[in-house]
Amino acid sequence: MATSLAILPFLLSLHPLLSSAAPRDTLLLGSSLSVDKYQTDILRSRDGTFTCGFNSIYTNAFTFSIWYTHSSKTVVWTANRGRPVHARGAAVTLKKGSALVLMDYDGVVVWKAQGDNSVGVQYAQLLHTGNLGLKKVPVTKPPNSAGIIVWQSFDSPTDTLLPGQRITATTKLVPTTGLHVPGHFIFHYTDSSILSLLYDDADVHEIYWPNPDNTLYQNNRIQYNMTMFGGLDDTGIFFSSDFANQQALVASDQGLGIKRRLTLDPDGNLRLYSMDSSDGRWSVSWTAMSQPCNIHGLCGPNGICRYLPAPTCSCPPGYVMNNPGNWSQGCTLAFVRLPGTDFWGSDQLHLNSVSLEACKNICWMDCTCKGFVYWQGTGSCYLKSFLFSGKAYTPNESYRTMYLKLHMSVNISGISVPRIDFLVSRKYHPDCRQMSTFPEIHKASQGEAKWFYLYGFAGAIFVLEVFFIVSVWCFVLRKELGASEIQAVEERYRMASNFRRYSYKELVKATGKFKEELGRGGSGIVYKGMLDDRRGVAVKTLENVRQGEEEFQAELRIIGRINHMNLVRIWGFCSESCHRMLVTEYIENGSLANILFKENILLEWRQRFNIALGVAKGLAYLHHECLEWVIHCDVKPENILLDQNLEPKIADFGLAKLLNRGGTDQNVSRVRGTIGYIAPEWISSLKITAKVDVYSYGVLLLELLLGKRVLDLAVGADEEVHRVLRKLVGTLADMLDREEPSSIAEVVDCRLNGQFNYMQVKTLIRLSVSCLDEDRNKRPTMESIVQMLLLADE
Ligand SMILES: *[C@@H]1O[C@H](CO)[C@@H](O)[C@H](O)[C@H]1NC(C)=O
Ligand SMILES: *[C@@H]1O[C@H](CO)[C@@H](O)[C@H](O)[C@H]1NC(C)=O
Ligand SMILES: *[C@@H]1O[C@H](CO)[C@@H](O)[C@H](O)[C@H]1NC(C)=O
Ligand SMILES: *[C@@H]1O[C@H](CO)[C@@H](O)[C@H](O)[C@H]1NC(C)=O
Repeated sequence: MATSLAILPFLLSLHPLLSSAAPRDTLLLGSSLSVDKYQTDILRSRDGTFTCGFNSIYTNAFTFSIWYTHSSKTVVWTANRGRPVHARGAAVTLKKGSALVLMDYDGVVVWKAQGDNSVGVQYAQLLHTGNLGLKKVPVTKPPNSAGIIVWQSFDSPTDTLLPGQRITATTKLVPTTGLHVPGHFIFHYTDSSILSLLYDDADVHEIYWPNPDNTLYQNNRIQYNMTMFGGLDDTGIFFSSDFANQQALVASDQGLGIKRRLTLDPDGNLRLYSMDSSDGRWSVSWTAMSQPCNIHGLCGPNGICRYLPAPTCSCPPGYVMNNPGNWSQGCTLAFVRLPGTDFWGSDQLHLNSVSLEACKNICWMDCTCKGFVYWQGTGSCYLKSFLFSGKAYTPNESYRTMYLKLHMSVNISGISVPRIDFLVSRKYHPDCRQMSTFPEIHKASQGEAKWFYLYGFAGAIFVLEVFFIVSVWCFVLRKELGASEIQAVEERYRMASNFRRYSYKELVKATGKFKEELGRGGSGIVYKGMLDDRRGVAVKTLENVRQGEEEFQAELRIIGRINHMNLVRIWGFCSESCHRMLVTEYIENGSLANILFKENILLEWRQRFNIALGVAKGLAYLHHECLEWVIHCDVKPENILLDQNLEPKIADFGLAKLLNRGGTDQNVSRVRGTIGYIAPEWISSLKITAKVDVYSYGVLLLELLLGKRVLDLAVGADEEVHRVLRKLVGTLADMLDREEPSSIAEVVDCRLNGQFNYMQVKTLIRLSVSCLDEDRNKRPTMESIVQMLLLADE
């Protein structure tokens, strides 16, 4: 109290306007801005450009925001996006515990700003840059010095970056949708330190800027500049640490004296806006995507974007908009209504007294549901897994109506399949709705011939897709690549990286006639070798030629493109008569399994955490950032190699499956995991997604924490490993809920003697619990895991 009183005269002297009617720019300790007086209870930057206060988004719903004063309230920052407060009684207060707290009418803390070092904060100030800072004045400084900022809104941007504000490794822009919630687009630094725009939702995670069809070089970017910062300056130049040759993005009206903002708009485009100072209107002075159809996810699932000439969304034939008037939910296969028709039998489920809408929804959710019969009146809903014995009823029995999960009311002859290149759908993540149509065509040939005609049209659309799948199959399954093709492939890879083809003779020499064996895996033996340029290499022979060939070629396809500090670098391959070999970098310290589970070696906590982080980064790269998605499918300590700095590198892509989004499926390469690390859906033969790696990663985290193999726990308990794991996860989840430091400490490898970072341990436990969720949809993505680990990293 004494400090705040002492500082008061100083603040008053700083702000002569404070006592007058004009809005102030500071909020003193203990005072509030109240939503009840939202029109006057505001802070205004001293030059009047920015205002901070409550912003009405609907009747009775407010956010605490900062906006440009003279531009019909262009909001540049919001504290409680997605969680507005009520019109009565909500307030933001600079509390004595020294945080800026936003409380709703019922006293619930909706949002809180608290710096690491915020004890002693004396005031909040809206600066002329549009930055809201919590400040304190150090005792040692003369009273007329400016305060030190201990927290600032600039560090947690929402959808806008202002001149002078930085985007860093830990910040990102996410657009604010019409409903004032965060959207699916993200502007941030990826793991490889590239400032990117991406589309991100539960199923899809795709970068669309910089142009993913180009190499980084063509995009003028540099990977792994760990500086990771970017920002807009006062002259309209946007710079980022990954821009090659110091090349910056420049506003068309470059120059001082113009008010600007860089905003990630709800349509996924990043735009630089300049304000016309006479009327406060904004005009665009730079755009990230000049071709808006290249923005991913713009038309939602199944939607097609085309230029007419303005970019316009449409649905493919047979599909209708999911939510008319709103493209973010894309298109869905429509139900065809067949009044007075039923398909007897093959009921998956029978429900009574449900609404038509509910019945539709249930059928939609279930990929195996082909349609349903609905009885008007009783509200009976019969979901069909198979359409057989269809029958049209007389009009007096027409209370039953069949709804087929396919849209047939389109004029087939009149429609040309849109000129969307279906090969483009490689980049398209199949969703369950789309996949459900595919097997139907198969079934048609197995006995439901007449339905083939009904489905024929859908078939026509998918023929293109089938064609694509078949061609990929052919590519992958072809037993031998012709010599010229190999060369072509090789040329491409050589251009992309240092990847090259080695002769068998060269490798015999490099390995000293395969003298020193490093290890044996499912697909072959690994030998140590030394190339002529004295690079140490590991040469992996693929023994079973037939099976090896497939794996080998699968690997070939991805090898040339993969380059990440947490992935073992592959230098080349050998393919000569029956010899198939891979040449990879040699990693000094061997596998994590050899170190973590050894009695006489102890990995310190710091090293374990770093391994967890590195592996997460490597997997995130494989899952999200490679040009082609890669699922490792065999994440385990044996496949994590450690270099001389104990930096982890993920090895053995032999089992990796390519996930060509949309096209090929899990059958492309035969995949096998390892007991103890495989996700439950693996056994239930569900489609394999990247979430299997997330699961295995969860097991790996547990092993890093425990210092033991999860499999060994099961041996001791004489129970199935999966059950043991479930119990362990349950216990850990409870422990997290109860927040008992002592019990959490007990989990950690006792060899560490309590030498660990408690917060990091907690983060790892929390992550492993969520990674090991039975429901793969609840498991986090590797990218979000990386984010959480980075936050926990000191
Ligand atoms: C469209 O739907 C999405 C998701 O439900 C929602 O966030 C968005 O605000 C909607 N847009 C409009 C214009 O209604
Ligand atoms: C990384 O970015 C910073 C900031 O732009 C720059 O000064 C530095 O030279 C860059 N480092 C490399 C290795 O390019
Ligand atoms: C339906 O109508 C036909 C003729 O109109 C009649 O023969 C038949 O019995 C009726 N069926 C039922 C169930 O009422
Ligand atoms: C379907 O389209 C074709 C070609 O546009 C047209 O000739 C035909 O009359 C249409 N049929 C119906 C039923 O609209």
